[in-house]
Amino acid sequence: MIKACIFDLDGVIVDTAHYHFLAWKRLAHELGFELTPADNEKLKGVSRMKSLEIVLDLGGVKASDEERESLASRKNIWFQEYVEQMAPEEIFPGVNQLIQDFKANGLKVGLASSSKNARTVIRRLGIADEFQVIVDGTMIVHSKPHPEIFLLTAQMLSVAPEYCLVFEDAEAGVEAALAAGMRCVGVGNQQHLHLANRVVAKTAQFQLSDLTQL
Ligand code: BG6
Ligand code: MG
Repeated sequence: MIKACIFDLDGVIVDTAHYHFLAWKRLAHELGFELTPADNEKLKGVSRMKSLEIVLDLGGVKASDEERESLASRKNIWFQEYVEQMAPEEIFPGVNQLIQDFKANGLKVGLASSSKNARTVIRRLGIADEFQVIVDGTMIVHSKPHPEIFLLTAQMLSVAPEYCLVFEDAEAGVEAALAAGMRCVGVGNQQHLHLANRVVAKTAQFQLSDLTQL
């Protein structure tokens, strides 16, 4: 029985995953190599500094701690330029309704995003008040696939992990949800997300009535 639904943000509620990719791609290009969509799968769900480490490894680029700080901050400035242009119309179709359906049926709804920009994004989308609990990248030590972010969200929602369902588009996120002892709906490609209890191509293909079939 599911009592709480926990949503990832980037790639589940809105296509900010694409903006993260464009910003990393630009950084890689400036460093002299190209980042592919396949490379990007490894960056989804993981923290900014861990993502940078993966990007630098892919390009075989060495950088000091100080250079890493500066590279990560440039990437973040480009990402924030995309965020400043965002509007509520960018929320994936049906996601608002799905959240309303869960709440109308007595489920708690939380947001668990590794992004330190998560609060700015949901404010721009006008949905900051929809979540009973918001956990973002400023509140955790360990990045997904570590379960910390989901365990903290469940604790703040006062719901035991076994009663939580997570919506995730990242391989690392699916792993984190399962490691937390929760069930997980993967949003995206079956091949990348096959560990999830169910995979849907788009978030709102999952419906309230599907809760009983997990
Ligand atoms: C996650 C994204 O939600 O947040 C990752 O899937 C991103 O791609 C991570 O790297 C950290 O985001 P930010 O906004 O703190 O750089
Ligand atoms: Mg995501």
